[in-house]
This record gives sequence, structure tokens and C-alpha cells, in this order.
Amino acid sequence: AKAWTVPMLADAKRDGRKLVMLTAYDASFARTMDAAGIDLILVGDSLGMVSQGHNSTLPVTVADMAYHTACVARGLSKPLLIADLPFQSDATPERALDAATRLLQAGAAMVKLEGAGHKLEVIEFLVAREIPVCAHLGLTPQSVLRLGGYKLQGRDDATASKLRADARAVAQAGAALLVLECVPTPLAAAITADLDIPTIGIGAGPQCDGQVLVLHDLLGVNSGHRRPKFVKDFLVEGGSVEGAFRAYAAAVRDGSFPGEEHSYA
Ligand code: KIV
Ligand code: NA
Repeated sequence: AKAWTVPMLADAKRDGRKLVMLTAYDASFARTMDAAGIDLILVGDSLGMVSQGHNSTLPVTVADMAYHTACVARGLSKPLLIADLPFQSDATPERALDAATRLLQAGAAMVKLEGAGHKLEVIEFLVAREIPVCAHLGLTPQSVLRLGGYKLQGRDDATASKLRADARAVAQAGAALLVLECVPTPLAAAITADLDIPTIGIGAGPQCDGQVLVLHDLLGVNSGHRRPKFVKDFLVEGGSVEGAFRAYAAAVRDGSFPGEEHSYA
């Protein structure tokens, strides 16, 4: 298989090929994911919760993200590497440009940021400066203080149409990919149909263009946090760590994961 590039994301959607994404935080897991044929690797700011032991992603810094991005990049040859802009590093276009530059110089090919609203200007600013952007809508963990917890988003008509409008807006602003977290299956399906850019679901049903899971959830590693409904431990059927990654990739590609038991109707 060829090494992934940003333009190949839109090609995959056009061809109806599912995108398989996992989070990674170090070189050895990244190398194992590469060997297992994972398409996209995300250095998530979830590292604050699964590696650093915090109870939210808010304490994660740009220096933390750059360090883990550089570690992961050393383990990869084919997958596209995406890194999260941590809390408030994307508060203004100029701050986001500085943070994103550090993450790209550490080896990322794309940065991810949460939300729409004032972030639309940030997305446009980065894309105009040759920095590919992945948007992230629905449950945005950096909003945990306002949201009051990690909960399903877009449950009523008003919030669902707001989410659908935000999704169009981030694509219009130039995002090349969109993560949808914890949204009802029909809403994620409608957003996926609305957009030319691929959607990557986590707790967003099977009709997204791809799926992402946090490494620790896929392996059933106890990170001290409540296991959300949408996670599946693939280690049992996979038989080994690389086997678990292969089982996950196969299940995403053949549409068997996520099932109804992992989704919100
Ligand atoms: O930080 C992270 O791991 C993420 C994914 C859950 C999408 O943002
Ligand atoms: Na994140």
C-alpha cells in the first residue's frame, strides 16, 4: 500500500473506502498499527487522560503534544499522522498557527481542532497557510466544563440542526476531515451525506466514512475512566496487539463495527 496523503482522504470517500483510525502516543504502538494497515493515526489530547492520568484533556500542553507527535512519527511510514491542538492553543488564529507549526515540524501531516463558531476563522487561517485541518464536532472533550460531562450531543431538533450547520461550515472553512463524537446514528449519517469530506465517527454509528477508537479502549486497558458504550475490546478476538488492530480494521472495513450495541439510535 502507498503512504497516505491528505488528498487521498477525499478519494477514499468518493470510492466508498472506509477509513480506519486509531490513537497512538508512542513509537512502538505506532509501528504496530502501521504493520496492521491502520490508515490514519491520531495523537489525541486524550493522552492527558490515558497516559498522564488526568481526568480531562485540559491540562495537555503544546509541548506535550509535540513530544508525543515526534515519538509516534518515528514509528510510522504509511499512515497519515494527525495531531490534536490542545486546549486553548487554537483560541486565536495566530496562537493556532504557532502550535500547528510545532506539530507539523514534529511530524504531523494535519492538525485537529474542536468546535465551529470562532474556530471557523482559525480553520480558514491555517488552511490558507498550508496546514491541513481535521475538524471535531459533537462531544468535544475540551468543552467538558460547559457541557458538565461527556454526554451524547445533538439529541433534539435544535441541537441536531445546529450540529448539521456547523459540519457544513467547517467543511466550507477548508477542513479536509471531520471527527464526529457521540452523536446519534441518523444525525451522523445525515452529516456524512451532506459533505464531500470524510467523516470519522466515534460513538456516531456505522454510516460515517471511517471510525476512530482510543488505543487503550480497543485493548481493554484500564485507564481509570468509565468505559463508554461505543468502545469494543478487540484483544480477545485479535489474540495479540497487532491482531487486535487487524481485527478492528477488518470490522470497520466490512461494516460490522460499530454495531447497534456501540451506537446511539
Ligand atoms: O483525543 C482523542 O483521542 C480524540 C479522539 C477520541 C477522536 O480526539
Ligand atoms: Na482529542
